Amino acid sequence: MLRSTLIAAAKAGAQENVRFFQQSFTVHHKEGVNNLVTEADHAAEKAILAVIKEAYPDHQILAEESGSFTQDSSYKWIIDPIDGTVNFAQGIPLNCVSIAVEHNEQIVMGAVYNPHLDEFFFAEKGQGATLNDKPIRVSGKTETIRSCLVTGFPYTYINERNGPIEVFERFVRKGVPVRRLGSAAIDLCWVACGRFDGFFEQKLEPWDSAAGYLIVEEAGGKVTDFTGQPFSIYQHKVLATNGKIHEEMLQVINGQKELQS
Ligand code: IPD
Ligand code: CA
Ligand code: CA
Repeated sequence: MLRSTLIAAAKAGAQENVRFFQQSFTVHHKEGVNNLVTEADHAAEKAILAVIKEAYPDHQILAEESGSFTQDSSYKWIIDPIDGTVNFAQGIPLNCVSIAVEHNEQIVMGAVYNPHLDEFFFAEKGQGATLNDKPIRVSGKTETIRSCLVTGFPYTYINERNGPIEVFERFVRKGVPVRRLGSAAIDLCWVACGRFDGFFEQKLEPWDSAAGYLIVEEAGGKVTDFTGQPFSIYQHKVLATNGKIHEEMLQVINGQKELQS
């Protein structure tokens, strides 16, 4: 029932996404000059919450647009109604709904659905990860220099050592292709299915990373913070890789190693 509710909630959110994608919608600004929220984000979140609350009225909720709903339950649903809102507002079909289920402080299920490409990524802890019901695996690349990476940048600049631009530059200077899709949840899923070998980002929120994190791990990948510690969705820095280039990427990110081209 948890699984069918998760899938139904993701599809309900995606339906609102597609409905608004084909018409005009209002756009508002959040903190930061280009941190947007559209009418579609609110409509998608409302549709998702309706499905979850109908099935599990006693579960906790952490949703990007409406905040947290805390009650006495060991279950928490973590929701990003549209991940990639700037893409959405620009008419770029790289955006998705991302929903995870946390049980006793562990992510146990996650779904990321991009309705524009009709790609539904799903994972359950210990059961592997799928794309449209077919099992997926991370890539087999063993060298960062021969890898294809993806990253994202926060809406507000982080001016510190090993910041987003500095780290990005370290890879790009050595000729490593580093893409920037604009949806952290899709970035993570595309690592999980082997399209990318690694993903790093510095200022993510729980709803950006929760579902994608489990999908990468269940596809055989590795996810940590920038010190190499096991990843928690409640901290902001994430490195997700195929596992084989993880250590080397960590060293580059922390300025401890220069790649040899
Ligand atoms: C954003 C996207 C983007 C990432 C930002 C996130 P939103 O989420 O995941 O790729 O770089 O940090 O905030 O605002 O589109 O839900
Ligand atoms: Ca997001
Ligand atoms: Ca969002």
